Amino acid sequence: MKDWSRPEAWANIREDVANSTTLPPEAYTDPDYHAQERAAIFGKGWCGVAMVDEVPVGRVVVREIAGTSIIITRNDQGELRAYFNSCSHRGTELVEQDGEIGTVLRCPYHRWTFDLEGRLIATPLFEKELVENFELDDFGLRSVCVGEFVNVVWVSLNSDVPDLTSWFGDLEERLAGYALERYAVRKTAAYTVEADWKLLTENFQEYYHLAWVHPELAKVSRVDDHYRFQGPGRYCGQTTTPVSAGENGEWTTLPNATGLSASDAESGRHIALFPNVMLTVLPNHTCTFLLEPLGVGRSREHISWSTPHDPSPLDLDRLVDFWALVNDQDIEICQKAQRGIDRGRFGGGRLSPRYEASLHRFYNMLADRFEGLDRCPDGDSN
Ligand code: FES
Ligand SMILES: [Fe+2]
Repeated sequence: MKDWSRPEAWANIREDVANSTTLPPEAYTDPDYHAQERAAIFGKGWCGVAMVDEVPVGRVVVREIAGTSIIITRNDQGELRAYFNSCSHRGTELVEQDGEIGTVLRCPYHRWTFDLEGRLIATPLFEKELVENFELDDFGLRSVCVGEFVNVVWVSLNSDVPDLTSWFGDLEERLAGYALERYAVRKTAAYTVEADWKLLTENFQEYYHLAWVHPELAKVSRVDDHYRFQGPGRYCGQTTTPVSAGENGEWTTLPNATGLSASDAESGRHIALFPNVMLTVLPNHTCTFLLEPLGVGRSREHISWSTPHDPSPLDLDRLVDFWALVNDQDIEICQKAQRGIDRGRFGGGRLSPRYEASLHRFYNMLADRFEGLDRCPDGDSN
């Protein structure tokens, strides 16, 4: 079995972009690679798993990451908390599905009860005095690192990670003018895609395909108006400046957020946050994609549309319909890419330095995680 933590495995993408290959085909098709990726990427660093609006106080959500079930909730002060989804008595799954919880978590089996800080506070009929060396304090829930960034809830199964602000470098500052905390999710959708999650984020990161795959989108987000939008941080980005009105005002009908800078007020920021979140920020809405790997060559895409103002149902439908059209085109082409790599005996290819440098950056972030290199990529000047 190939060991993907060894530098030799990534030699072909460590060159500069002009000399780099694409990712090795096994990265999309091989079960051994997939298992190692699950551990190295999803088991050892930050991953986006929910929107913050999904976890208000009094609610719990259950998410699976790298084969591990995690429950996420908020304490009385509204701070996020995440725990492994297993009772400290005999291991039972505590929460089966998203729902309301009130002020405690109660195991369905023998009703051991935990407060929202994960402390064990009740053990009905257990008769502690008959058990030696048993302290409630030793049997709290086991915490998982959790935080929020760009209105996404992120978790890390490994506690030895930089905090989210450091993980994303200068991105927090670059997006500060949008004050994204005032945006609320207005609509969601989810799709199962017969393609590896990396193909979806790679596709999001390049506009090389724009004119051919998205004739409608190319009118509001013109190929010639794209520029790189990358600083030191674990993200790959591009900006469309300016966003055009298009024929039907697809991206311009909703009212803009107030107080935007001149540049933010005319731009679309398209940012792939490493590893599994894709975010488009426009002056009047955001669209967030959370990518969940389901298996080799299969993913689930969770999409949320958020706006700073409460939109009319008609405007919201029009916006979401446009995104759905574009997204269907992306899904179709990514599924074709998956099939070609998988069944066409693809041997690896090359990248366009002008249009696909962001993919090269993403590949190198991926390789860094496999190799255990904790480093943030630099920004670039163009
Ligand atoms: S397994 Fe949870 S209370 Fe017994
Ligand atoms: Fe696309």
